[in-house]
Amino acid sequence: MEGGLSMGISTYTQKQKFLAGVVCSLIVLEVVSLLFSLMGPWRIYQREIEVTGRFIAPFGFAMLNTMLILVAAANVLVLLKFLLPNWKPHRQWLGGLLGVALLFPVLNLIRGISVDAGYSFGILNQPPLNIFPLPVVIAAMIAGFVVFNKFFLLLIGVAFKKRMEKIAGIYSAIMLAYWLSAVGLWLVKINGAIHWDANLLKPITYLAYIIIYFNWPVLSRPILEKENTFMQITFEKNPAPKQKPADQSALGFGIYFTDHMFLMTYDEGHGVPGESADSLGCEGWHSPRIVPYGPIPMDPAAMCLHYGQEVFEGLKAYYGVDGKVRLFRPAENMARLNLSNERLCIPPIDEAFAVHAVEELVKVERDWIPTQDGTSLYIRPYIFATDPHIGVRPAKQYIFAVILSPVGAYYASGLNPVKIFVEEKYVRAVKGGMGFTKAAANYASSLKAQEDAHKLGYSQVLWLDGVERKYIEEVGTMNVFFVIGDEIVTPALQGSILGGITRKSCIEILRAWGYTVHERPLALEEVVAAAKAGTLKEAFGSGTAAVVSPIGELACGGETLSINNGEIGAISQKLYDELTGIQWGKVADPYGWTKVIA
Ligand SMILES: Cc1ncc(COP(=O)(O)O)c(C=O)c1O
Repeated sequence: MEGGLSMGISTYTQKQKFLAGVVCSLIVLEVVSLLFSLMGPWRIYQREIEVTGRFIAPFGFAMLNTMLILVAAANVLVLLKFLLPNWKPHRQWLGGLLGVALLFPVLNLIRGISVDAGYSFGILNQPPLNIFPLPVVIAAMIAGFVVFNKFFLLLIGVAFKKRMEKIAGIYSAIMLAYWLSAVGLWLVKINGAIHWDANLLKPITYLAYIIIYFNWPVLSRPILEKENTFMQITFEKNPAPKQKPADQSALGFGIYFTDHMFLMTYDEGHGVPGESADSLGCEGWHSPRIVPYGPIPMDPAAMCLHYGQEVFEGLKAYYGVDGKVRLFRPAENMARLNLSNERLCIPPIDEAFAVHAVEELVKVERDWIPTQDGTSLYIRPYIFATDPHIGVRPAKQYIFAVILSPVGAYYASGLNPVKIFVEEKYVRAVKGGMGFTKAAANYASSLKAQEDAHKLGYSQVLWLDGVERKYIEEVGTMNVFFVIGDEIVTPALQGSILGGITRKSCIEILRAWGYTVHERPLALEEVVAAAKAGTLKEAFGSGTAAVVSPIGELACGGETLSINNGEIGAISQKLYDELTGIQWGKVADPYGWTKVIA
């Protein structure tokens, strides 16, 4: 049976729509506020002429207005950033404007102090309200600019994002109270007559900022996603579906495969406008299709079989406790697939389309998603070179495939710490090689060490760097973290390490919780010394399959180091609970990482 699958158009949650409305209103407010602000310096100018008979700060006047424009523009850009995070130029513009606008409070301060110094030294007439000594006035000004400057508030939010969002929200609340009281006093002063002024906008602005800061994780992802104009995926239903495995506790990993698979073909030079991926900027990819799972015919001379031009990805679909099916950060996988593609001279795929293809396939195979606690549907996207050619060069034909496999719970009986063998003979990758990619070849070269370690009774190897054999890189097919004293360290990604999506998520969660996480070169000897000194508190691997895998023992050059007495540490357990909670919909997902697809 043939038919077309409907193309998914991105949808927004009610919350996102509401927040988008808030941000849009705020942008309008900022612009209106700017117009009022520009009148401020003009009034100062008039007052100074009235009081002193001369205009004492022409430079300050020009500077103030210029800065106000810059600050307002920066505010507008910051707010636009929420709406259009994929808007590329904002980085430079925003960075430049933030930098210049940061000068504003400082320059304004200098200007204010020079005027007050003028009054105090009798150069200018003392204004009636200035009854305090100069040091008090200066101190109050500095405090005022630092504490009550909205721009500092914005910078705090922008610079520290999630970690500071609550503080920034509380700060905004204080500002709101401050401005409400100021407006109240001011209204009393003018006998209850409401005078339209920029001051009236401030409370509204701060209220909106409070909403923004408390919702930063939702806002910091695209709200206005472009509508997708994807290629049509054709669908051929499997006429002979398989029996699904009855016992979900015996699924294992990568043993069973579902009834359908996704395929898409690449031919150099192929491109039918509107039909191929040309319009998506990925010329040559065409004929996306979901077809019955089965052998893919291939020429014996297909280049992937000879020169290993193959890259892959790994992610999962989770059947949540609420009955919804979720993917976890699928766009990250497709971005990484393109990184691998680039390194192996494989033409890029359209990342959004690839995510869409995965979604469509998972929806077709919804009934294959296991439902027992800890189980999931493993998704394996991969690309391999197919042209029949013997000769070393990049291929001109490829297939992009996605297959699905229901997999069992990784930890059937709780999180068990594993024994790790520090590998000093073989290396996994070197800088300049392909370690940062998910290329099949990397896994072929790791098999020997893995086999040897298994024979010695260890579950994984700890890979050291390929040049000095000194720095820690990864653990088996996972990234690795060490809790040393109050610091959590994971090796920096410097070309030979795969940038794990679980690694990235762990770092973001740990930082959001307030832990100090450093991505830096980590020498094995530092870990050994920490273990001996008793400051090595925990160690764990991170990856899609196991999520978090605690390390209980490290065998290193004849020595055996026990970590946390071979038991799971508190941080590892907390991290595991949080990540799996988000993935299975057991806890809220404040980061917007999961994508509900069915
Ligand atoms: C070599 C290697 N390192 C790290 C990882 C962890 O990556 P992720 O967290 O994206 O699964 C993997 C995962 O498959 C891997 O193969």
